[in-house]
Amino acid sequence: MDFRALASDFHTTFSQEAERYFFSPGRVNLIGEHTEYNGANVLPCAISLGIYGAISKRTDRLVRLFSKNFSEQGIVQFTLDELDFKPSHGWANYPKGMLSYLKQSGHRLPCGFDLYVSGNIPVGAGLSSSASLLMLIGEIVNKLYQLHLSKIELIKACKETDQYFIGMKSGMSDPFIVAKGKANHAILLDSHTLSYDYIPFHLQDYKLVIMDSNKQSEELVELYDKRRDECEHALRHLQGAINILSLGDLNIEQFENFKHLIPTQLLQKRARHVITENERAFSAVKQLRRGNLTALGDLMKQSHLSLQNDYDATGAELDTLVQGAWNQTGVLGAKMTGAGLGGSAIAIVEASQVDQFTENVNQEYKSKTGLDASFYIATISDGVRELYLDKVKS
Ligand code: GLA
Repeated sequence: MDFRALASDFHTTFSQEAERYFFSPGRVNLIGEHTEYNGANVLPCAISLGIYGAISKRTDRLVRLFSKNFSEQGIVQFTLDELDFKPSHGWANYPKGMLSYLKQSGHRLPCGFDLYVSGNIPVGAGLSSSASLLMLIGEIVNKLYQLHLSKIELIKACKETDQYFIGMKSGMSDPFIVAKGKANHAILLDSHTLSYDYIPFHLQDYKLVIMDSNKQSEELVELYDKRRDECEHALRHLQGAINILSLGDLNIEQFENFKHLIPTQLLQKRARHVITENERAFSAVKQLRRGNLTALGDLMKQSHLSLQNDYDATGAELDTLVQGAWNQTGVLGAKMTGAGLGGSAIAIVEASQVDQFTENVNQEYKSKTGLDASFYIATISDGVRELYLDKVKS
């Protein structure tokens, strides 16, 4: 990110100097897709793509916001006393929702601010751009008003804002990794207890390539809610006979013994995905600790196949992209990431093969779907943080 450009864009927009700068990353799930709301494990990492914010405090109660990614909206402004959701405010409802949540939780917000936001993460592409934006605002407000909120409190604030202000049934895992990510580490997160462990993740001679399918499905929210319901149904049938709190409490052997309790093949498949994906998360941790990226790549492939065949959450575009990736030289593995039905996939690709990889994958993808994919190389990043000018080489 060109820091000077951010400072100068702030100045052009608000005719004054920015006082402070922040960065909030996006995330990818290496393994552990659709396990979170089933009390199972997730294995995400924070990435170097994310959202930058430049900010300056005001003396009145006005909040003025500008996003480079939604520049057509111009400056959105409101006061700290009118924090209601407004469809016409678009992206600005995220900062507004966070302010509203904090205010309702009893925190004093003594003055407004001017904020310029610029993201290099694709929006709505399964990389947690929403959690990234919410956490960016949470961290900024936390520091600006010296609220002394812990990371866990900020994570909860993001979840509550997303659920009750924006209206998405999201959980804690996305804001969790955005807040607590660590460079060159994945996090094994138990979504039930929120206990977690940093797992070293060194890419060695490989690159993490993010492939945005540029397909956004209108049916995604419906699919997400439906899968949650299906998993709850499967769980209820199992709970009739065994004492478990969530699908994440079962290992594969136990599942095989008890799956007859789930009345339909379809619900059995949904549960099987969750349980096998949970075990894959543990296996991936073992392989990462050994530095065995080849084995991690195999697990990623199995994860995608399970999401495709058992969970029906991938869609034609992501399948085409991921299968195209599997066929290339120097690829250890590839899978969809995020909720699915479009959005992004990730691949681990030998550094020297990346150019050829993106060219070949896109050619095949375009010829089969008519769409161009977008490719990004990401490194494994730290979580949300304040940036200091003297530490940034622009
Ligand atoms: C979305 C949600 C996450 C998780 C993934 C699927 O990205 O925000 O909480 O459920 O889908 O793994």
